[in-house]
Amino acid sequence: MSFEYQVRDLSLAEAGRHELRLAEHEMPGLMALRAEFGESQPLAGARIAGSLHMTVQTAVLIETLVALGAQVRWASCNIFSTQDQAAAAVVVGSGTPEAPAGVPVFAWKGETLEEYWALAERIFDWGTDAEGHRVGPNMILDDGGDATMLVLEGKRFEAAGAVPATTPDDSEEYAVVLELLRKSLTEDPQRWTRVADGIRGVTEETTTGVHRLAEYHRNGVLPFPAINVNDSVTKSKFDNKYGTRHSLIDGINRGTDILIGGKTAVVFGYGDVGKGCAESLRGQGARVVVTEVDPINALQAAMDGYQVVRLEDVVRTADIFITATGNKDVIMAADIAKMKHQALVGNIGHFDNEIDMLGLSRIPGVEKVEIKPQVHEWRIPAGADGVEAHSVIVLSEGRLLNLGNATGHPSFVMSNSFANQVVAQIEVFTKPDEYPVGVHRLSKKLDEKVARLHLDALGVRLTELTKSQAEYIGINVEGPYKPEHYRY
Ligand code: NAI
Repeated sequence: MSFEYQVRDLSLAEAGRHELRLAEHEMPGLMALRAEFGESQPLAGARIAGSLHMTVQTAVLIETLVALGAQVRWASCNIFSTQDQAAAAVVVGSGTPEAPAGVPVFAWKGETLEEYWALAERIFDWGTDAEGHRVGPNMILDDGGDATMLVLEGKRFEAAGAVPATTPDDSEEYAVVLELLRKSLTEDPQRWTRVADGIRGVTEETTTGVHRLAEYHRNGVLPFPAINVNDSVTKSKFDNKYGTRHSLIDGINRGTDILIGGKTAVVFGYGDVGKGCAESLRGQGARVVVTEVDPINALQAAMDGYQVVRLEDVVRTADIFITATGNKDVIMAADIAKMKHQALVGNIGHFDNEIDMLGLSRIPGVEKVEIKPQVHEWRIPAGADGVEAHSVIVLSEGRLLNLGNATGHPSFVMSNSFANQVVAQIEVFTKPDEYPVGVHRLSKKLDEKVARLHLDALGVRLTELTKSQAEYIGINVEGPYKPEHYRY
């Protein structure tokens, strides 16, 4: 099969390569895994279909997977998150823009929904073998679960023999998926069943994708083992928290440049992401309030010094609204209509259904003005409920703003997340007997290993337990240091 790719502009590759080089230095976990496994090639024979934000950090992940022997095809998991220079650098690899020799990437910043799903489909298309049979991947590396969803929905409809008609309840995006699967069912009625049968496992990056996997498994439709990378401590307690602490305000600043200090900011959800968001906004001098549904998280927020409120308490007075729940319908159009002039609304949760963008577009007389890509002023006319004409700024059309308006999390924290991804890929690919169908986490030993790989870079000098100390607290000198139920 000829070398295929779809990216914005290969002439950006050199600029991308410079950024990759700097990122490698900030990703000691990935570089250590290259050194440890470069020779033994544990991923030889792996054909990985990757669906994860195509950023500079992801480029270092992709090249690590290749260094460990894998073949890889890649798409982004969000229409706005690709960094075109990183995509170009990965495609060019050790070649030139005229003769690229790297990894097939199918992604650019600013895809339409139709393009997004067509590009997602390409990571499952590995050409044909010598006998003319279609080849698929044998591993998925997913972020948010879209790649896994495509395979499982395809398989489900193939078993039923038809793709259902789109209903008014379906989102615009799901209608695009149904259309793609309708076409594929006509062309090859067993395509996704074969793909699913060929997959040895999936490793999932984020909270939302893990929720989806758990639901597939509960419903008995998960056909292969899955590793929940998100809930490695060195992922969710670092990337979700310290990553967003960095990239939330980066997105707000690049998008709008408004002064955050002194403003009232509402953070919806005080989970790992919400904690990072609240801290970063407070660090800028914002007065931060939090909403929660879980009494434990609400109490945590209160003890951390944040007032816990309901949206209705602050909707008319707050300046900045950030959703971080992974839930749907958190800010509705009727809420946005009540906000004050030039309030800022953004989402950092995985999907765009936290904010009711469809409802917003349907407010009678509403007007959408593009200030610049991924920054829109929504002009809301005077209306019922005493609402005066005003406008509200929405970032990244309600999609995750830290990747849409900025460049996502910085390399060092992503080195932790992606070291977990690489370890998870090796585990599930090389030890099928240890990971039956189901949703697994990596062992605490591996979690601790990922942390260890990042200590030297920060000048950390770890205290070593004596044998008698270890015995006294009932663990081994070399770990694991905590029981499974410990929460960090
Ligand atoms: P989490 O489960 O730790 O936290 C979510 C919190 O939201 C929970 O405490 C929950 O009780 C609360 N919540 C749920 N519904 C709510 C509602 N209607 N109102 C107020 N609070 C509500 O999840 P985590 O890890 O914080 O992730 C949140 C979202 O962010 C997920 O979609 C995840 O995939 C995504 N994510 C995004 C990243 C990014 O770079 N943009 C990075 C990591 C995760």
